[in-house]
Amino acid sequence: MNASTYDSQMTPKGGPLLRLEDIRKVFYTDEVETHALSGIHMDIRRGEYISIAGPSGCGKSTLLSIIGLLDSPSDGEYILNGKPVAKLSLSDRARIRNREIGFIFQAFNLIGDLSVYENVELPLSYRDMSASERRQRVEEALHRVGMVHRMKHFPSQLSGGQQQRVAVARAVAGNPSVLLADEPTGNLDSTNGEAVMNLLRELHHAGATICMVTHDPRYAKYADRTFHLFDGQVVEEDHSPKAEQELEESGFKV
Ligand SMILES: Nc1ncnc2c1ncn2[C@@H]1O[C@H](COP(=O)(O)OP(=O)(O)OP(=O)(O)O)[C@@H](O)[C@H]1O
Ligand SMILES: [Mg+2]
Repeated sequence: MNASTYDSQMTPKGGPLLRLEDIRKVFYTDEVETHALSGIHMDIRRGEYISIAGPSGCGKSTLLSIIGLLDSPSDGEYILNGKPVAKLSLSDRARIRNREIGFIFQAFNLIGDLSVYENVELPLSYRDMSASERRQRVEEALHRVGMVHRMKHFPSQLSGGQQQRVAVARAVAGNPSVLLADEPTGNLDSTNGEAVMNLLRELHHAGATICMVTHDPRYAKYADRTFHLFDGQVVEEDHSPKAEQELEESGFKV
């Protein structure tokens, strides 16, 4: 059965944007085997906002790296936008990642000797895109996060909250299918943390699909669904009341 027939049979509204089927990840180091993920099943629909919670070491970042095509699973299937992507070569993964995925990291990960503008432009420069389209996208993304006025600054000249807003602009500038955020508020005080979470919420309301790892239950509740991970497995799944109602109306089964 190919991915598209599977989708149309399972999901009345065009199928999930991404589907993980029995994903496993084993790391081998100095003869030690670490089973970081042990059979993850997950369907995420377009426009959904999900969060991933769980104790340190339970596999959250490993899972997000696999969803974000930064790493590949040891076993299992991953279908993104109807295409199987678990076993792609490094270069194919990089190409799809550049188009489909926007990443926001806890440590911002901006490049210190590039300006705000250049940081947001960088991922677009690997794409076949005219200079004028790049400029338009960068300015639009910086506008969305309220950072146009700092376009020529360098990351070291910005506060942590501002740096994370630039990182959000970089993640959304390419108009990715899915935005992934790993503890996006982990290095921020509560005011800046709140501002970044509100920004993600606005993006979600504008239609973005978001997967976020967070330790903070205040932030997890912004999501439509929360997956609780323990020892590399999903042990519980919470739905927000609003999401539950929508899910029922759509006839979508998880
Ligand atoms: N590159 C690697 N090599 C070996 N083991 C790894 C590697 N990456 C992660 N692990 C192991 O896999 C398990 C899951 O790690 P992961 O980073 O996904 O946890 P996490 O849930 O994100 O934790 P935290 O909340 O502390 O960020 C851990 O036991 C970790 O030691
Ligand atoms: Mg982590």
